[in-house]
Amino acid sequence: MQKFVISGGNRLSGEINLQGSKNSSLPIIAGTLLADGECVLKNCPVLSDVYSASRILNCLGCKCQLSSGNAVIDSIGVSGFEIPDELMREMRSSIMFMGAILGRMGECIVSIPGGCELGSRPIDMHLASFRKMGVDISDSGGKIHCRIPSGKAHGAKISLSFPSVGTTENIILCAVTAKGDTIINNAAREPEICDLCRFLRKCGADIKGDGESRIVIRGVKKLHGCEYTIMPDRIAGATYIAMTAATGGELILKNACISETEPFISVLEQTGCGIYIADNRIYVRKGARLHAIKDRIRTMPHPGFPTDAQAVLMSALITADGTSVFEENIFDCRYRHTDALIKMGADIQVMGKVAVVRGVNKIYGADIEATDLRGGAAMAVAALSAEGTTNLSNIYHIDRGYEKFEEVVSSLGGKIRRE
Ligand code: EPU
Repeated sequence: MQKFVISGGNRLSGEINLQGSKNSSLPIIAGTLLADGECVLKNCPVLSDVYSASRILNCLGCKCQLSSGNAVIDSIGVSGFEIPDELMREMRSSIMFMGAILGRMGECIVSIPGGCELGSRPIDMHLASFRKMGVDISDSGGKIHCRIPSGKAHGAKISLSFPSVGTTENIILCAVTAKGDTIINNAAREPEICDLCRFLRKCGADIKGDGESRIVIRGVKKLHGCEYTIMPDRIAGATYIAMTAATGGELILKNACISETEPFISVLEQTGCGIYIADNRIYVRKGARLHAIKDRIRTMPHPGFPTDAQAVLMSALITADGTSVFEENIFDCRYRHTDALIKMGADIQVMGKVAVVRGVNKIYGADIEATDLRGGAAMAVAALSAEGTTNLSNIYHIDRGYEKFEEVVSSLGGKIRRE
């Protein structure tokens, strides 16, 4: 099992090009199943989750070539409709293939997906939405069997009880080639959903309203292949910004997605960290000690503060001056990183969905284990600002979402090596 050995205390400084987005590349890769032709995805991040997605495509009969920054996917030969259990368990986004397989084949067999353990992550909204679109679903022996008796889903009016990102994406994927119109009310508004829709429109889909809470999809007969550039990863961006703030450095983030990162930046600015935006770049500079954030930091669906950036911001605030309070409203169990931060000397008290972070003067290196993707990244942020050496194990979690993590951190002057 690999680990990162991180020696803290170096001020990070330099410029980086932001990687492509994990959370939009995965549903887009699923969407290539619907295209009758070759899709070329540019700026596709090289991540273990992307490799898992390509293995799913291969087992369904697609040809998928991944080379640095590009994925070339040919779905003409798709013949399968079952995703084996071991591939379903590799990541949460395996569930996103359901909508696309149903759209292409009219039938699919899956099992409960894996992914980060952030509390219970049911798929009830996904299944209820498919049922409304004419899909028969049965569950036996751990397999979920979905079948559309007529072979083609029909449009439906679906009102989500919560703006779930994955459910919104799955409905869109199933609806683009369904018969008739699908309307999603209370749809998720995350930028990655807009990226998926831009890709699908380039393949010939008719979608309106993405980025708003009412999305209307008019089913078309067929989609064709296209060349598409995946948006930059706003959460990787937030991670490197938090790292700079925590270590007292200077960063130029090139190819940044500025308006999409705004909900994170507007909170971080309250710490006194200097953030300047120009020409598609974000410039970050930390001067004196960060101030704690006065208002409660509440994670909310976009355009609220992103749950995926909660842990990395917390790591920057553990040595801030004063007390900051977090409220996690998206997942039941997204404070699993706090035990490691406490082991490093942080003063954090978790009470249900609230975490109170009292700033300390210093934290220290320790032997810790990544618990999940963003929690693991947060531990690396803390380790880079700590005194002494941290051994961070279970880094396969970090590899799921950060491309060449140690190379990026080293290029900024951070002392990190993989062992
Ligand atoms: N939920 C249900 N039933 C469902 C679906 C969701 O109760 O059928 C609940 C979840 O349990 C959770 C809430 O709704 O409490 C939000 O879940 P959502 O469906 O919005 O999240 P997701 O699609 O599973 C995506 C990202 C997550 C990100 C969330 C929220 C991907 C692959 N994952 O997850 O990213 O935190 O949206 O923005 O896009 C990460 O990148 O580290 C990550 C976890």
